Amino acid sequence: MSKLVEVMQVVIDDIPEQARFSTADAEVIIQHKDYLLGLEDALVQGFYDTLFAFDRTRDVFHEGERPARENSLAKWWQRTVQGPFDEGYWAWQTYVGLLHIKRGVSNPMMISMWSWVLDLLSSRIEEADWPSAEKNALNGAFQRMAAMTEALIGDSVFRFYLQGLMEATGFNQKLLDRMVQNEIDQMLEANAQYRLEH
Ligand code: HEM
Repeated sequence: MSKLVEVMQVVIDDIPEQARFSTADAEVIIQHKDYLLGLEDALVQGFYDTLFAFDRTRDVFHEGERPARENSLAKWWQRTVQGPFDEGYWAWQTYVGLLHIKRGVSNPMMISMWSWVLDLLSSRIEEADWPSAEKNALNGAFQRMAAMTEALIGDSVFRFYLQGLMEATGFNQKLLDRMVQNEIDQMLEANAQYRLEH
């Protein structure tokens, strides 16, 4: 098993089964793929307008890169609404996450743009002429997809960072865990006013 697939599996295993992207989620997305494919232009345009309207996200891009990135997002969307949602799909999301990390895209940037995507989808799903149970199922499917992808990207950043640190310093995981625990204990103690009263 490759390191990437290993990390992916560890992350997915931590998601409670009831909250995990399911075969029913995959089915409801694929069932509505024609409608969803029709949202491509609005999604791509709005997504990149948002990123280019803010200096920190705009600064991630090279001069003249936008058309190529719009094309990547369009391809991602086409694959994302047609499935299949197999191991290859989630491995691809993890890989795409690594490409973003390499370009300096932070977790806050990634997570907030996922939220932007979910907002756009829910407003367009609301406009459709389907029973509300169907709309809820579709919104839920995209929410679980977002959570899974965000978990894969966020956690792989952390795990690959850790791996790099261990290789560079010769520290083992136990030692690092202890150092982190100490740091957290100090932080908790210094900020104990935020603790709920028991
Ligand atoms: C919902 C969130 C996002 C999705 C689904 C997404 C999707 C993608 C995909 C599919 C690619 C192409 C990967 C390839 O070439 O194989 C890509 C590349 C890229 N994206 Fe995103 N993206 C997201 C968020 C962002 C954000 C927030 C930024 C910047 C602030 C960003 C900047 C980039 C850049 C710079 C590349 C080129 C990476 C490279 O050097 O190859 N993306 N994205």
